[in-house]
Amino acid sequence: MPSDLTPHLPQLAPEAHAARRARLADAMRAEGGGVAILPNARTSVRNGDTEYAYRFDSHFYYLSGFREPESILVIVAGAREGERQDILFCRDKNPEMEIWEGFRHGPEAAREQFGFHVTHSTERFDEILPDLLSDQPTAFIALGADKDFDARVLRGIEAVRARARKGVSAPVSLHDLRPALDGMRLIKDAHEIALMQRAADISAAAHARAMRVTRPGLFEYQVEAELMHAFLHAGAASPAYPSIVAGGANACTLHYVENRSRLAAGDLLLIDAGCEFEGYASDITRSFPVDGRFSGPQRAAYEVVLAAQLAAIDAMRPGQPFNAAHEVAVRVITSGLVDLGLLAGDVDGLIESGAFRRFYMHSTGHWLGLDVHDVGAYRVAGASRPLQVGHVATVEPGLYIRPGEDVPEAFWNIGIRIEDDVLITPDGPRVLSAAAPKTIAEIEATMHG
Ligand code: GLY
Ligand code: MN
Ligand code: MN
Repeated sequence: MPSDLTPHLPQLAPEAHAARRARLADAMRAEGGGVAILPNARTSVRNGDTEYAYRFDSHFYYLSGFREPESILVIVAGAREGERQDILFCRDKNPEMEIWEGFRHGPEAAREQFGFHVTHSTERFDEILPDLLSDQPTAFIALGADKDFDARVLRGIEAVRARARKGVSAPVSLHDLRPALDGMRLIKDAHEIALMQRAADISAAAHARAMRVTRPGLFEYQVEAELMHAFLHAGAASPAYPSIVAGGANACTLHYVENRSRLAAGDLLLIDAGCEFEGYASDITRSFPVDGRFSGPQRAAYEVVLAAQLAAIDAMRPGQPFNAAHEVAVRVITSGLVDLGLLAGDVDGLIESGAFRRFYMHSTGHWLGLDVHDVGAYRVAGASRPLQVGHVATVEPGLYIRPGEDVPEAFWNIGIRIEDDVLITPDGPRVLSAAAPKTIAEIEATMHG
């Protein structure tokens, strides 16, 4: 069910974040327990004294719900079940700075509103760190993600060693926190699914808006502006990745993000765009005719990609390997390429030799979540990962037909991708982005509506 797109103030969900911290503590305990230390992302200079829009670290946000820079999360997982302490270091209140830079929670409000057991000023982190590390067997950190921060933790460990005569012991191992977190983030909880549904709904509405405004003579960036309007107006913070608005031949460049060309009648327009809502990505692609009517060759190619996408979505079921969707998409695309006269030979042979890759050169999907290409292993024990209830992945086959002497001219510069966001449920695939017009009839009706 698409959600209501009325703008609203998002609600904090401290219980959801605390439940994730509890699960991480259980995973740490299974490795002997210890202390996890995770900083939020750093700010980053764009140019001069201007910064890039701040984006919190996905792992940090997943566990805390807290967005402010210069904050650090510490989770102490004691030896006994349920023995856990959640500690947040964050910026102090600062009325003077808040006049210039905006609201800061400060440790006290952060503790009350976000459900941490203890909070401190970030300024006290280095001073308190040795106490947190004392008598802990292991420090769990995002090893290598921020080398300066790793060095800070190592200095904390050295400070504990210097206290050895007081009878405290320092951690003897560093564990990478991320494999456990990556695994947790693969399975979306109810709070995440609600946010992802809304992200997908906003993006689906943005794609429909783009279809309604597109006409020959517009520039790609003008259509991009319509997408941005739909995202921001519905409360999304930003696109989840740079929008691809690619008319005509530009659609055959997979990562085209220039978006500066003029749209011409007779061309297709490929739009790959999705908003980020409350930290969660959506990722939708639609391809449609600039002048609102598919030509014969465009229609034929589109039906091949659509058939491949529907067959691939149908393979997104609990227990099916992740890669099953790609395999079925490749089969439908390859046999469609033969039907279109773009490849000759037997379908098995063309798949075996990889001949289809000339026209379909990327994979059919990826995990989706806080990151557009979300974390989580695609293979386990040497085999494609079986899908589980709560996984969310994209399904995005395409056809990209560049000019060539052996290619009928009617197909030149047709670039088509159809991408949806799919949640695995016990009953099979649920297409979160189903509200974006997709069949030829739906697209033409939207464009002429
Ligand atoms: N928009 C990024 C992707 O489709 O993977
Ligand atoms: Mn994608
Ligand atoms: Mn995409």
